[in-house]
Amino acid sequence: MQFKTSLTSATLLAASAHAASSSSSNATSSVPSSCSISSSATVTAQADLDKYSGCQTLVGDLSISGTGLSGSASLANVKTIQGDLIINNATMLQGFSADSLQTISGSLQLSLLTLLETASFGSLQEVETIVFQTLPAISTISTNLKSVQSLTIGDTSLESIDGFNNLENVNDLNVNNNKNLQTIDSKLQSVADSLDVSFNGESADVSFDSLVWANNITLRDVSSASFESLQKVNASLGFFSNAIQSLNLSQLSNVGGSLSIISNDDLTEASFSNLTTVGGGFVIANNTKLMQIDGFRKLQSVGGAVNVVGNFSDLELSGLKSVKGGADIETSSSNFTCDNLKKLQQQGAIQGDSFVCKNGATSTSIQLSSTSGSQSSSTGSASSSSGSSSGGKAASSTSSGSSKSKGAAAQFASGSSFMGAVAAVAVALL
Ligand SMILES: *[C@@H]1O[C@H](CO)[C@@H](O)[C@H](O)[C@H]1NC(C)=O
Ligand SMILES: *[C@@H]1O[C@H](CO)[C@@H](O)[C@H](O)[C@H]1NC(C)=O
Ligand SMILES: *[C@@H]1O[C@H](CO)[C@@H](O)[C@H](O)[C@H]1NC(C)=O
Ligand SMILES: *[C@@H]1O[C@H](CO)[C@@H](O)[C@H](O)[C@H]1NC(C)=O
Ligand SMILES: *[C@@H]1O[C@H](CO)[C@@H](O)[C@H](O)[C@H]1NC(C)=O
Ligand SMILES: *[C@@H]1O[C@H](CO)[C@@H](O)[C@H](O)[C@H]1NC(C)=O
Ligand SMILES: *[C@@H]1O[C@H](CO)[C@@H](O)[C@H](O)[C@H]1NC(C)=O
Ligand SMILES: *[C@@H]1O[C@H](CO)[C@@H](O)[C@H](O)[C@H]1NC(C)=O
Ligand SMILES: *[C@@H]1O[C@H](CO)[C@@H](O)[C@H](O)[C@H]1NC(C)=O
Repeated sequence: MQFKTSLTSATLLAASAHAASSSSSNATSSVPSSCSISSSATVTAQADLDKYSGCQTLVGDLSISGTGLSGSASLANVKTIQGDLIINNATMLQGFSADSLQTISGSLQLSLLTLLETASFGSLQEVETIVFQTLPAISTISTNLKSVQSLTIGDTSLESIDGFNNLENVNDLNVNNNKNLQTIDSKLQSVADSLDVSFNGESADVSFDSLVWANNITLRDVSSASFESLQKVNASLGFFSNAIQSLNLSQLSNVGGSLSIISNDDLTEASFSNLTTVGGGFVIANNTKLMQIDGFRKLQSVGGAVNVVGNFSDLELSGLKSVKGGADIETSSSNFTCDNLKKLQQQGAIQGDSFVCKNGATSTSIQLSSTSGSQSSSTGSASSSSGSSSGGKAASSTSSGSSKSKGAAAQFASGSSFMGAVAAVAVALL
């Protein structure tokens, strides 16, 4: 039911008190029926809000919507909402305040409020979920929250989210498409699910220097990022298309899923000096200016494949002991040498069935060999001086086509096994 006028709403409230109280059990015993909200009620005018000013606790979901609320609206005196506070599509609303409100047991949602410039929740300490979505006129939101499990701030014109910087532990933090947001300087210590900061202001600088662990981290389109305390990412860690120049995650020792550093055009340095384990894939690709990839000296084990593509002349991965997947290393630089990786592959550190390593100058030889049991067997054969294509002990049948090309080299992958033999190893050597 919808409250159209203040006259009817009082009766509707009384009528709905029973329904609300039965669903919210014991809590209502101390709450007057006028402070219970029917689940389908929508507030459309300040007068509707005023009716709750005698309530310390509201039970039920308070939904505010429509064009009837213009200018500023406020919810006075209410300290607790046992339910949600949802302000959606109130397109004339310019300001909202609920400065006595301390606790919202469910969500606080402000969405589709095209004229809303300010929102104030000066006493708010605890909310389960916050969603601020599509608030194109907002400049400030005042809060001093201590506890929220899930926070989404998307498509707003907020210049800062300082009101949320004191949060220490959340499940989710998603801050995206806030074009005026310049800085995030957060005190978060843990993120149980995902941390995602994407497509905010051109020059967004983000620091999460207290963050010790997070399940997932994804950063896109930020200009600097700092994670001084980060030790562990349970699942994946990804930096995509950022303007970051230098990444220094000196405490990080373990990424449970994949580590991706992709298309960061300004990146010149990636230092992960304490990283030993990556549970998924290790992908460093298309970072145009990243010439020296030498910040992974302690990396020992990679649960997926190693994929490094770019213009680098140096790739230091000599600590590698175990790569479960294959390796695909490609650089346009002509003075890069595959020798070290080749050695790792020969030692069996790279266990996947595909090994590709190419640089920008030399020709590439491919060796396909199949041995039942062990899969190394690329015994020094294909040492290629430029131009020569040595097939080594190219395995029976099939196309162990060695190709010769300048600038960019051969194309292959393998994975086919001959006569039931275990592994077919495709090796491209420089
Ligand atoms: C309300 O009832 C639930 C069980 O339905 C109980 O766990 C809780 O302690 C009660 N709360 C209060 C304040 O009595
Ligand atoms: C927003 O409210 C207007 C009426 O005020 C309605 O026409 C429109 O469909 C609503 N938009 C959404 C997305 O609910
Ligand atoms: C977070 O990690 C889970 C796996 O644990 C994955 O399914 C999910 O897509 C990831 N979310 C993000 C936003 O990266
Ligand atoms: C992620 O790692 C942290 C720190 O080791 C741990 O406390 C947490 O339980 C892990 N989370 C999951 C989902 O495995
Ligand atoms: C990375 O950060 C640590 C700690 O802040 C610092 O000691 C170290 O010098 C930095 N390394 C690089 C390569 O910037
Ligand atoms: C590196 O990680 C280990 C845990 O794997 C930790 O004990 C150690 O303090 C870290 N060292 C540095 C320099 O961060
Ligand atoms: C790198 O760029 C190339 C060419 O644009 C693209 O095909 C490839 O998928 C990119 N690699 C990754 C890992 O995104
Ligand atoms: C290598 O650098 C050139 C220009 O310097 C750039 O166009 C190209 O995309 C880079 N390649 C990769 C794979 O990053
Ligand atoms: C490799 O070439 C790049 C330029 O393409 C140069 O900056 C770098 O110093 C060279 N490295 C070595 C080891 O010669």
